[in-house]
Parts: sequence; C-alpha cells; structure tokens
Amino acid sequence: MSANPYPLGLRLHGRRVVVVGGGAVATRRVPALLDAGADVLLVAPELTPALRARADAGRLHWVPRRFVPEDLDGAWLVQVAVDDPMAAASVSAVAAERRIFCVRADDRTAATAWTPAVTRHGPVTVAVLGGGDPRRAMTVRDAIRDLLAVRVAPDRIAGRPDASTGTTGWRQTGRVALVGAGPGDPELITVKGWRLLTEADVVVADRLVPGLLLDELRPDVELVDASKIPYGPSRAQEEINQILVDRALAGAVVVRLKGGDPYVFGRGGEELLACAAAGVPVTVVPGVTSSIAAPAAAGIPVTHRGVAHEFTVVSGHLAPDAPASLVRWDALAGLHGTLVILMGLKNLAAITATLIAHGRPPQTPAAVVQEATTGTQRVLRSTLDAVAADALTADLRPPAVVVVGDVVGALDG
Ligand SMILES: C[S@@+](CC[C@H](N)C(=O)[O-])C[C@H]1O[C@@H](n2cnc3c(N)ncnc32)[C@H](O)[C@@H]1O
Repeated sequence: MSANPYPLGLRLHGRRVVVVGGGAVATRRVPALLDAGADVLLVAPELTPALRARADAGRLHWVPRRFVPEDLDGAWLVQVAVDDPMAAASVSAVAAERRIFCVRADDRTAATAWTPAVTRHGPVTVAVLGGGDPRRAMTVRDAIRDLLAVRVAPDRIAGRPDASTGTTGWRQTGRVALVGAGPGDPELITVKGWRLLTEADVVVADRLVPGLLLDELRPDVELVDASKIPYGPSRAQEEINQILVDRALAGAVVVRLKGGDPYVFGRGGEELLACAAAGVPVTVVPGVTSSIAAPAAAGIPVTHRGVAHEFTVVSGHLAPDAPASLVRWDALAGLHGTLVILMGLKNLAAITATLIAHGRPPQTPAAVVQEATTGTQRVLRSTLDAVAADALTADLRPPAVVVVGDVVGALDG
C-alpha cells in the first residue's frame, strides 16, 4: 500500500530543473517552471515549435541530444517527459541515485514526485492531487477555481497591509477594471475580462455590451447602466468617471464594461485618467474590437495575402466636411488597403462621395455589417458608389461597421 503524498510548494527561482523530452508533455510543463523562475535545462534531440521559440528567446537552455547522467549535475528537480519507458526509467534511476525528485509523465507509480492540478488566484496557489487519478484532481481543481472566481477577489485573499493603518487586513480602497466585452457574442469576452466580471461588486455597463454577460452577474452586484445617464454626452462621461471613482474609493471592485475594446472609440483613456487622478488603481483588459470582429463575422478578413497589406480603422461619426473632423479622408482615398468605418452609417453618403472624389475607384467592393456576432447580424455587400443608398434601402441601422476594399470579396468562392 502506498502512503499519502506529502505536499510541498517548491521555490524554484534560480534553481536548476532538468526537463527530459521536447514534445507535447514538455510543452505543457515548461511554462509553469519558467513562471516559477526555474533555471530550465531542456534535454531533447528535437523540440516543438513552442519550446523552440522559448529556447531561441533565451528563456531556457536547450541541449539538442539524448540524456546523459551529467545533465543532472546541480539539478534540484527532474521532469521526465518522454514516451519511451526504457529511456524514462534510466533518467529516473540516475535521479534516484542522486536523491533528486523525479516527475514521470509515462508512469506515475515509478515517479518520486507528482505534479498537481493547479489554479492560481492572485497570490494564492491551490494545488490538488487526486490520489493517482489526474481527472479527479482536475475536477476538484475546477470546482475550487470557480468558487474562488465567484466569491473572492484576489486583493481580498492577499490580506495586504492596509496603507492607512499599517495592519494586515481587508483593503479599504477598491479598484477599477476597464474591460472590453467584445463585439456582441457573450463568448467573445476574454478569460481575464470574464474573471474580473465575476469578482465585481459594481458593474458600469455600456449600451453595446452583450446582455447575456449581465444576465450572469451575481444578484448582489450593483449594475449601473451608463447609457441611461440622463445628460448630454460630455456631462454623462463626467458622471461615469465620478461613479467609477466614488465606488472604488468606497472600497468596491468596479468593472467598467465596454463594447469591443475599451480604447477603440471607447473613451477608456478618459476614464483611466480620471481614476488615476483620484488615486484609484486601474486595470485595462483589452477586448475583441468590432472593427476586426464584425468584418470577420461576415467572412471578410481585414488583411489577405496579395490583396491588402494594411487596414485603417476610422470613425465616421463626423461628416468629412465637419470642422471638428480629425480624419484626412482625402489621404485615406489614396490607400489601396482596407478601410473600416465605425459609427459611419449616418454620414455614409458623404463619406463614400468624398473617397470617390479623391480617387478611390467607385467599383471598390464595400460591405456593411450590422449587429455583428449576434443572433440578429445582417450583412450587406455592395460597391463604394452604391453602398450608402443600398444601406438606406435595406434599412440598416447602428451598430454597424462599413468595410471598404478588395478584401470584401477575398474569400468568395
Ligand atoms: C462607440 S464605438 C465603440 C467601438 C468599440 N469600442 C469596439 O472596439 O468595437 C461604437 C461603434 O462600434 C461599432 N460596433 C460595435 N459593436 C458592433 C457590432 N456588434 N456590429 C457592428 N458594429 C459594431 C459600430 O460602428 C458602433 O457604432
């Protein structure tokens, strides 16, 4: 009967860890070792491209040959990640001789150490061993990860010294995360954005964020609908900044959830500056922007080999002749590549006329994608000279992205 394993947290920073094997298992194991600061020596005749990239970047030492006993000189730990049981056994025999713990991917029973299933939450690491059953370990780990994500923000686990009292305890100051929610499909938020959303006490959401994300918030979360703030656009922005700052200073974890990416016509920069001015810590989580995702959802790549080597994202919320416009439409007309216009439906006739007047060919393919990545997505394909009228006839409405360029037909069969 085998005894229970004795759990330890290895502090590997600067310590030599030898990984034998350069295939899929090593590819999975090496990042956590590097993350722990280990001095990784990889012994394998060949590497996967991912490991090769790390070796080329100087993040680990690669010895391109088979294992020899001297490879374990100075090692604190060995990870055997080869399929061949004979080769694995010979490495672990050398390790045992030298009293170096050895993890074996091929045979857990022959190993002197096991790698647990791990979840990290801020400074806390939870490691689960499943009594020899890795699936059981992963199931338990996933349950713990979900619990931690829903219930406890990392700062609260941290028990960091409170700056005002010098004592260790709950932090008094909250924080703000500017999170990109993606273009519309609730599954297009990033993993980090989703995690922060599950940790939030307050969520300040834009009109364009996917409703289903809000549906899944805990019932005790305060939801502020930023689109309902009853002032003009600039006062409303000040009001939003104030809400973020006030709630965070009161100790709340605030998520400012914005459609697409927070910094693409999203006024995220202003919110960051307002928080910084008030001494509120801010995290920015980029999002999948509609400027790329909407064309993609309509089968249009914004670049394509031999078709477009650039794409330009531009706001069409001001007409080309508006005094406040910062866009050089005449210069854009001279580009061959892809033009992606956000907020441009209202001014589309003037925009397309200006592009044509400055030299963009009238027959250039153009498309409009409305409510991209949602169940109500609509796509219109046309040409530069006709797209404004066609969009009107089709009764297309915001939110919509206009794409101009040969990429519009690039994937058509
Ligand atoms: C204020 S901007 C914000 C853009 C956002 N930050 C982003 O990165 O996608 C709003 C404009 O984005 C575009 N947009 C956002 N979501 C969209 C969607 N699902 N489909 C089409 N266009 C979208 C529209 O042009 C809309 O008028």
